[in-house]
Amino acid sequence: AISDRLEGKHVLVTAGPTHEPIDPVRYIANRSSGKQGYAIAAAAARLGARVTLVSGPVALECPPGVDRVFVETAIQMADAVKAALPADAAIMVAAVADWRTTEVSGEKMKKRGSAPPALRLTENPDILASVASSPKRPKLVVGFAAETEKVLDHAKDKRKRKGADWIVANDVSGDVMGGAVNAVHIISDAGVESLPEMAKEAVAANLLERIADVLAPVPES
Ligand code: C5P
Repeated sequence: AISDRLEGKHVLVTAGPTHEPIDPVRYIANRSSGKQGYAIAAAAARLGARVTLVSGPVALECPPGVDRVFVETAIQMADAVKAALPADAAIMVAAVADWRTTEVSGEKMKKRGSAPPALRLTENPDILASVASSPKRPKLVVGFAAETEKVLDHAKDKRKRKGADWIVANDVSGDVMGGAVNAVHIISDAGVESLPEMAKEAVAANLLERIADVLAPVPES
């Protein structure tokens, strides 16, 4: 740790996509490299927090000092998040698939000789909303919102609907996905603060300073 500002605090982070199996070789997923979530977990560890990173399938190294729990599906992610509570802050960065297939085929589905199969889908649990309404609700619950239009309006709605304290909104109509930089807006009950475009690591460091200000305020002298 480069500082002990978050010593004794437990920070829970979700990152990456979830994979919802169709059959043994196919799945449904959202695009997500996991980079922003991993950078946030790393930044929390650098401030001395105990960090649990619940990660979907990504090819990233576990940051130093972080406890990683690998999951595949949204249901597994929801269970791992529940098992990791209590936490002082939850930062939900994962791009959870909104739907899973109602049935998973035990055998690889064949494409020859029949019409393309129709997938029946069921809604996945909203992990952010359940954490925010949990009896073990962390003091600070932060969600992310990747939007392609009306970024601030949608993010403000999302903050209310999901019961998050903050929503970190970004415009993903450009090439943020998988890229190294991000430009975010932090929406809280104090309003909107927009940060300039910066490296995902810098977004993470900035966000973690703000989180530390809430969890471990520096006494005014
Ligand atoms: O509704 P939408 O997917 O845009 O919301 C994004 C935010 O909600 C992110 O913080 C994401 O991690 C979280 N989320 C979740 N569980 C879901 C869907 C989204 O935790 N099933």
